[in-house]
Amino acid sequence: ITNIAELVTNDQLVTNDEQAQDAVGQRLAGDSALGILCDAAVLLDGDRIAWVGEAASAPTDADEIVDAAGQAVIPGFVDSHTHLVFGGDRSAEFAARMSGQPYSAGGIQSTVEATRAASDDELRTRLASFVAELHAQGTTTFEVKTGYGLSVADEERLARLAGEVTDEVTFLGAHVVPPEFDNGMGSDGDSDDYVTLVCGAMLDACAPHARWIDVFCERGAFSTEQSRRVLEAGAERGLGVRVHGNQLGPGDGVQLAVELGAASVDHCTYLSDDDVSALAASDTVCTLLPGVEFSTKQPYPDAKRLVDAGATVALASDCNPGSSFTSSMALCIAIAVRDMGLTPAEALWASTAGGAAALRRDDVGRIVPGARADLVLLRAPSHVHLAYRPGVPLIERVWVAGRAI
Ligand code: NIG
Ligand code: FE
Repeated sequence: ITNIAELVTNDQLVTNDEQAQDAVGQRLAGDSALGILCDAAVLLDGDRIAWVGEAASAPTDADEIVDAAGQAVIPGFVDSHTHLVFGGDRSAEFAARMSGQPYSAGGIQSTVEATRAASDDELRTRLASFVAELHAQGTTTFEVKTGYGLSVADEERLARLAGEVTDEVTFLGAHVVPPEFDNGMGSDGDSDDYVTLVCGAMLDACAPHARWIDVFCERGAFSTEQSRRVLEAGAERGLGVRVHGNQLGPGDGVQLAVELGAASVDHCTYLSDDDVSALAASDTVCTLLPGVEFSTKQPYPDAKRLVDAGATVALASDCNPGSSFTSSMALCIAIAVRDMGLTPAEALWASTAGGAAALRRDDVGRIVPGARADLVLLRAPSHVHLAYRPGVPLIERVWVAGRAI
């Protein structure tokens, strides 16, 4: 197999490499970290980026040249939070919510039932169509969580199937307490027995397929102490730590995540000043999920407050059948700009380099020599159009590891 070198010339290149930014890009991006180059070119060689710079000084020996005059090129989106292995449908729950029903984690049980009833092949087919959907929308790296199996065999199955489509598999056996363990006593009694199962046989079965451990640390799901048990058990097995926290109300999720050195704490809808300062002083990425607030009618978190404090913010879809059934990172950007106080540049950074930080990856999320060749060509002259033209399909072409989709 010979590598094809492909040169993409374009009018606005977002590299996420501050060093790369030229004078015109500096003016366009303000003080952001986007590293914008104008009249730029990128050389792809096999699955990697080989060269980045001004079109005028680009290598001339490429096998193919893509002339994207008038269009912007951005790094592929890094969606660091999804729940894509599931069966069933909860559109009726969504419709009820739009006419006034509150969101509750209780709906998760219906997806657990449908997921357990689905065959491997049914789940696999659905997963493949989600992957196509993500790629078509410019997402080139994505994480997938388990959490709709909640038995040893079903969680193992979901982790294995997720591993067929991504390296970023997260074991979320501690999503909710399944009905066979739930005695309605919250953190007392039987739910501790479930946590023991998660930390024991279920972790043993899932850890070989997973890179991360996650827990839903929230009233109605798992208590702070239960969450700590789960995360520490995962960390002992070499898994990186992620947390679902502060989604439905204030809580300890953020503080626990920071204390345990989690790569990311996700949702962060309800944050105290102490939570914001703890995040700012830590390496834990704060991953905001605008699709959730959109689809549950909860208040949007204030992303500007986090950025101003110095926290690292990522945006992700949380694509799942309950709280956020969107896989569109462009929609997340549009909401974050319209309603959460991010500038278009900050929102794009959070959806690419921010997601990469949340997954502790330095090979994706930036267009720099040596990085994986994950690129999106926009049907627009500037990345700002992602927020400026909400709902419009602006993704012209996508390369995943150098391969045009
Ligand atoms: O990230 N927070 C918990 N889990 C999912 C929702 C799952 C569901 O409603 O099915 C979330 O929002
Ligand atoms: Fe989630």
